[in-house]
Amino acid sequence: MPAMKDHTRISDLPVLIGQSVTIRGWVTTTRSSGKIAFAVLRDGTGYLQVVVSRAEVGDDAWERFRALTQETSVSVTGVVRADARSPGGVELGAMEIAVLGPSVDFPITPKEHGTTFLFEHRHLWLRSRRQVAIMRVRHEVVQAIRDFFHERGFFLVDTPILTAAIGETAGSLFETDYFDLGKAYLAQTGQLYLEAAAAALGKVYCFGPTFRAEKSKTRRHLAEFWMVEPEVAWYDSEDNMRLQEDFVSYIVARCLERRREDLKELERDTAPLERVAPPFHRISYTDALKKVEGLGASVPWGKDLGGDEETLLANSFDRPVLVFNYPREAKAFYMKENPADPKTVLNNDCLAPEGYGEIIGGSQREDDHDRLLARIRAEGLPEEAYGWYLDLRKYGTFVHSGFGLGVERTVAWICGIPHIREAIAFPRQMHRLRP
Ligand code: 4AD
Ligand code: MG
Repeated sequence: MPAMKDHTRISDLPVLIGQSVTIRGWVTTTRSSGKIAFAVLRDGTGYLQVVVSRAEVGDDAWERFRALTQETSVSVTGVVRADARSPGGVELGAMEIAVLGPSVDFPITPKEHGTTFLFEHRHLWLRSRRQVAIMRVRHEVVQAIRDFFHERGFFLVDTPILTAAIGETAGSLFETDYFDLGKAYLAQTGQLYLEAAAAALGKVYCFGPTFRAEKSKTRRHLAEFWMVEPEVAWYDSEDNMRLQEDFVSYIVARCLERRREDLKELERDTAPLERVAPPFHRISYTDALKKVEGLGASVPWGKDLGGDEETLLANSFDRPVLVFNYPREAKAFYMKENPADPKTVLNNDCLAPEGYGEIIGGSQREDDHDRLLARIRAEGLPEEAYGWYLDLRKYGTFVHSGFGLGVERTVAWICGIPHIREAIAFPRQMHRLRP
């Protein structure tokens, strides 16, 4: 294969009208008549219509062009022309073409395919227009997350993925053998480590893959997902909720600003996204139960809201909603008891509108050593694994709060896609480990 030095990216073409360029990419669609042929090329930066006129190129080039098949990789040289109907406002009048990598019988054709087939071919399906658009939105979400925290003086702290039985809940841990030390578990959260780092650096966040061995088959659960978790010293639950409003609004605004073309490709109605701005709606868990009861569902006080109840509740609001003060028994051991109502904790979930459910879980942390120890014992957690975590309450304890936002749920919501498995390049689910 020839060296790949001098070529132009499709996204750079609008300023090169009238110039001769070489493009390298993949053929998405083709059509031709006796005199003129068209192909649409993709190179990751955009799509380009290439036009060949039989009268303008030699017979060889014409035949090569006419024989192009879906996903052949090619190099095309030609002149950039203005074309108001094309994306980016340009097309390429081709003069020369070279096939770099043939593609015979590409398995994913423009016809409809079943979900199972598509996920078995995920490595190839990723090239399709919708999947490219989703991946580009995901990139923006991730970049917005990093920018948001960087601009506000947070420090990134990378927390371990291999941990000793410590996290959210027992029972959904992936385990592996760890040298002579017995079992290690894949991280369900970086939070506990981040609390230690918050005492060192003040405002911190971690951002990485997170693992849950729950046997859930819902459209909101993956076995491996990406979570970003900020933790802030001296923030109480109120401050924590305000940070979430600013954060979620920032991410959505960035996608609207920079990924409008991709959202259009996904046929996303952006009106509900335009409304995402602080303040979000707020409702206590107890009032939320009354509200969903009024809508026909029934949840006994003390149980967490399920996906259906979250959808019911969120559908009655036009923006994200923060549900606060859940019952202690429904949530994790580390959440601080609500002094005004000790059956509840100082926590909140953030529910996205349009049926996307919980995108954030957060809380003020229990900062009292003895209360925390009592909770660890009451939950039957292995006390010895939490010794270092209790130390944070022994040496200069401090008010602190934080939250975790799931990237795939956020991307699915912003893209308006029904299932989070398309919001990550290679999803890991109970029944899916390949490709
Ligand atoms: O509510 P969760 O379990 O909270 C925590 O892990 C806390 N330690 C966060 C913190 O306070 N630092 O998870 C947080 C978010 C959820 O709101 C959801 O968006 C996402 O992580 N999430 C999942 N996403 C995909 N698949 C799963 N199985 C998920 N479980 C949680
Ligand atoms: Mg949660």
